[in-house]
Amino acid sequence: MRVLVTGAAGFIGSHTVLELLNAGYDVICIDNFSNSIADEKGEAVSLTRVSQLTGKQIPFKKCDVCDEKELEEIFKTEKIDAVIHFAALKAVGESVQLPLAYYRNNIVASLNLIAMCKKYEVRNFIFSSSATVYGTPEKLPIDESCRVGVGITNPYGQTKYMMEQILRDVGAAPGENWNMILLRYFNPVGAHPSGRIGEDPKGVPNNLMPYVSQVAIGKLPVLTIYGDQWETKDGTGVRDFIHVVDLAKGHVKALERMDKKGSIGTEVFNLGTGTGYSVKEMVTAMEKASGRTIPSKVGPPRVGDIASVYCDPSLALEKLEWKAELGLEEMCRDLWKWQIDNPNGFLAA
Ligand code: WQD
Repeated sequence: MRVLVTGAAGFIGSHTVLELLNAGYDVICIDNFSNSIADEKGEAVSLTRVSQLTGKQIPFKKCDVCDEKELEEIFKTEKIDAVIHFAALKAVGESVQLPLAYYRNNIVASLNLIAMCKKYEVRNFIFSSSATVYGTPEKLPIDESCRVGVGITNPYGQTKYMMEQILRDVGAAPGENWNMILLRYFNPVGAHPSGRIGEDPKGVPNNLMPYVSQVAIGKLPVLTIYGDQWETKDGTGVRDFIHVVDLAKGHVKALERMDKKGSIGTEVFNLGTGTGYSVKEMVTAMEKASGRTIPSKVGPPRVGDIASVYCDPSLALEKLEWKAELGLEEMCRDLWKWQIDNPNGFLAA
């Protein structure tokens, strides 16, 4: 199977490309560099490193999924058996400021892509969704039968929820024979243990762990903990943090399910560990991994935040034969190695 990977140069995309290659899949990678770095030759720095790590060539083309002409060129010239669609804008706070950019990049682009798949008879489609679609969780742990679309507090989450509905309808159209798998990520953290690829947020990180890591190394002075009066074990927010390598392997398992089962229709899976850790627990774990003190102060709760989010990952174990294997120690160990080895991320030192 040859897999078109969109957003391949990004954090989860690059880690997934590595695992796809290790599992023996061929890939064709595209990215528009809106949230990743190109070198002077126009190659994706993260994918050049994946190529070094795997010893395999990685066909890459700069392409904006929003641009139908550019996208069709890829489908016309490349053999494609399946698509893994990562390309999207994903900053919750930014989506509140720039809703149109988010609807264009996350909805229009995805519609272009699925229409191109239909036109070129590509029937295997894996979609990068998010736990955000659960909005205010109906219950904890969250399983795939839980209500979605209620209490989503930002355009980013809405785009993921809407795309899930659109893909379900496309997948259900009679006589189309689609295989679609929607993967709902919880909180991806960490980096490849080699320290060669990792999360490289532009500017000040929105998410907890890249921020904590930059405080640990001294790039940022102090962590602000968004509220310590939540109804949780220690008053700080609880999330289902999952190692990005485990998350990447979940995509390989999804592809293998399509490969093995042939026609599966549309399926949805949580990709999380099933364990919730609090902000304070993550800070302590990172202090242990880095040997550094991480100064923090308590600030007001962030608009849109909720107390606890963590999943029941048993359906992915049953159907994908996948479960997260890396724990908190590995998440922090690998994040710290990435941070230390790459103080400027993918930018040249
Ligand atoms: C985690 C916890 C914060 C930063 C978001 C998206 C989700 C997914 C992952 C894309 C919360 C607290 C954070 C900080 C803090 N992204 N925090 N200080 O909000 O759970 O999920 O990212 O798919 O869709 O919604 O992740 O890392 O921003 O926050 O105290 O500087 O850390 O309050 O409890 P979140 P996060």
